[in-house]
This record gives sequence, C-alpha cells and structure tokens, in this order.
Amino acid sequence: MTTLYTNIGELTTNDANLGDGSVMGRLEGAALVEEDGRVAWVGEAAHAPAADVRVDCHAGAVVPGFVDSHTHLIFAGDRLEEFVARMAGTPYDGGGIRSTVAATRAASREQLHDASAARAGALFAGGVTTLEVKSGYDLTVEGEVRLLELARSFTNETTFLGAHALAPEFEDRDEYVELVAGAMTDACAAHARWADVFCDRGAFSVEQARHVLSSARAAGLELRLHAGQLADIGAVGLAVEMGCASVDHCTHVSDRDLAALAASSTVATLLPGAEFSTRSPYPDARRLLDAGVTLALATDCNPGTSYVTSMGFVIALGVREMGLTPDEALYGATRGGAAALRRGDVGHLGLGARADLVILDAPRAAHLAYRPGANLVARTVLAARGQGE
Ligand code: NIG
Ligand code: FE
Repeated sequence: MTTLYTNIGELTTNDANLGDGSVMGRLEGAALVEEDGRVAWVGEAAHAPAADVRVDCHAGAVVPGFVDSHTHLIFAGDRLEEFVARMAGTPYDGGGIRSTVAATRAASREQLHDASAARAGALFAGGVTTLEVKSGYDLTVEGEVRLLELARSFTNETTFLGAHALAPEFEDRDEYVELVAGAMTDACAAHARWADVFCDRGAFSVEQARHVLSSARAAGLELRLHAGQLADIGAVGLAVEMGCASVDHCTHVSDRDLAALAASSTVATLLPGAEFSTRSPYPDARRLLDAGVTLALATDCNPGTSYVTSMGFVIALGVREMGLTPDEALYGATRGGAAALRRGDVGHLGLGARADLVILDAPRAAHLAYRPGANLVARTVLAARGQGE
C-alpha cells in the first residue's frame, strides 16, 4: 500500500541529505511517498512515482509530526485557582502538586482515561504524533502503576515519576525516597521505559535523585530528569553524570554544568509553556545552543505549570520569548524531541523514517511562529504501525 502526498508548498524533512542540503532538508514543490508506514520516496512532485492513494496538500507546508517528549498527561481536576492567584503575584513553588494528587487518587480509571484522552486528542489535532507521558500524580505503589497502565494506552514512551513530590502520607523525604527507589520502582519498571525525578529547590535533592535514578537504571529503565526549573542546585550536572537522555527545563544552569551538558549526548528539553503559565523567566535558549547543546521543545502538559496542548504555541513561544529562529524551534519540536527520546525513526522525514507528518493550512512552516494562537494544522497523519509499535 502506497500513498503519495503531493502539491506540498514547502516540505521540511529535517534530513540534510534531502532538498536544499540544510539541516532542515527543505524542498519546494515537493511530493512524498509513504509505503507501509515509512517514507519511501521524496522529491520534485513532477517526478513522483505512481501510488495507490493520492493526497493533495493544497500547497500547504508539510513538516514531520511533532514529538512531544515531556507531558504529565494523566491527571484529574485542574488548578485554575492556583493559576489565577499566580497571575496576581503568588509565585510557583511546586506545592500545588499535592492537590492534583488528591484529585487523581479520587478519580476512577475511566474518568482518568477520558480526561487524558481529551488532552491527547488536542495534542494530536495540533500535530503531535509521538508522545511521552509521565506518572507522578498518585505517589503510592499501586497508584503509580495505575497511572503508568493508563499512560501505556496512549504511548510506549511512558515515564515513572514517583519522585515528583513528597507523598502526603510521609513527613520525611528520605523515607519516601526509599519507597520510590525500592518497592515503587520494582512495581513500576514493567510499565515504563523511562524514570524521572523532580530535582529542584523544594523538591528532591541531587543526592535523593541520584539514588532514585540509580535504582531505576538497575531495574532496566532509561533516565531523564527535571532540573533547573526553579533554581540551580546542580541537577543539570547530575543528569549528565547519570547519562540521562534528556534534562528538562534548564532555566537555571551554571557555566560548569552547561559545559558538561554540551560535551555530553544529553538533550536539553525546554518547556516554555511553564514559564508562560508561571510568569517566570524563560530559559536562555541561545546560550544553550551556542554552547553546542541539542535542544528539544515540549509542552510539559500538566495542570500546575503548563496546561498547554499545542506544540504550535510552544514553537511560537520558543521563537518570540527564547530567541530561537522559526527553523530552530521547529527542529526542536520534531528532531530534538526525537533525540530526547532516543528515537531515530521519528522527528524527520528522511527515507525509511516513519511517515508521521503534519499538513499545514499555511504555505510555509514558519507560519507556526508567525501566526500564534491559530490552529494551522490541516491534518495530522500517523503512519500505519505494525503490531506492538
Ligand atoms: O514540569 N516541575 C515539576 N513538574 C511539573 C509541574 C507539576 C505540577 O505543578 O503539577 C513541571 O512543571
Ligand atoms: Fe514536567
């Protein structure tokens, strides 16, 4: 079965072997052929081979499907009051996580599924074709397993985040960390690919995070870390030390940790929806890029700091508020996100890649940044998956 996407206004492949030879791998007047879920041919529309199905892109731009590599999709309730208070001057300190824990524990599996499915639907409608989903709003052994099982119904990129906040049953953080690193990791490992810790001022310390990440790794999980959102406590350095695939937030990073990050393969995932929704300073994306760090952009969809379900909006924030060019932001939202998930099959449209793509209702991809707030996604295409994929 083959599908020809033709009459593409501007095709971004993110593959320097294609098109203009730039990192964006760009072609004008292009066509793309998908066969059995993979990109089989890319070139000038006039030279396209015949295919079983023909899709007219109406001169719209086509880009790789967005890779949202950081979400807290599974939760109940909202934190509107906290947001309103914040807009009146109350700072964010992570304390509100507990109210979402209470609401999530009280919700049935079906309620949680339906609320999360609505958010996943919004992400997909906005062009997301690969999604990471974390646990972290239950903080009991059985409850974190339940959240990961729900997450698995949306994606294989599931992340165990038992060390998101101190569970309300505990007074001593070290005692809770023992539970997370022990019985909780043992129970959750089968349901997750990744482990994560909120390592920051007022959350878990570098030592506690190192302990949780070490036992997660021993249980077969790959690692990522929340670091440098509220303060620099050396968490970015820990992410590099532990070989994390991604270190997320990175607003507060010392020169020393930046140098270590730049010399590593750890991706910095920036989440400007969080700074937007907490009215906080944005990370200095230029400083990170100029140091040679690979950047990803993601929504951080969660009820506390970033109730954002639009990657187009995140791209616009990256450009307007963090000093990225439209191409740098698009690359971060696609190939950068794929790197943050150690995925070579998504985030680009090179030959053999998954043919996950977005057809825009705009002639060029830069319209995503140029026209913020508009849903420019005419169609999100999720290529056919084999069994278990
Ligand atoms: O990435 N910082 C930790 N976790 C989330 C916020 C969680 C919450 O406030 O509910 C984040 O911003
Ligand atoms: Fe987060």
